[in-house]
Amino acid sequence: MAAAAVLLCPGLRRSVGPRRALSGPAGAGSSLLGKKGAMACTVAVEESISDHYNNQIRTLMEEDPEKYKELMQIIKQCRDDEWEHHDIGLEHDAERVSKC
Ligand SMILES: [Fe+2]
Repeated sequence: MAAAAVLLCPGLRRSVGPRRALSGPAGAGSSLLGKKGAMACTVAVEESISDHYNNQIRTLMEEDPEKYKELMQIIKQCRDDEWEHHDIGLEHDAERVSKC
């Protein structure tokens, strides 16, 4: 689903690149923090990703809501998926460690 949104929206492609490049080292680093630390990092990352999707939706709404209706629906689904990951992190004690 996220890949479809990236293919449809060049702005997403640009912004996903650096995140993807940093995801490997971030994942390896958070694994050193243990389960709760990894969950805290997951929550922080998912918040950031959800904010990014919300910004994309906001931009498309301002641009032409009718023209981008289908794309916005895809992005909303992606955001909701990521927010579900966020909530899973919270359910697994992400808040029991300090921010990573
Ligand atoms: Fe996620």
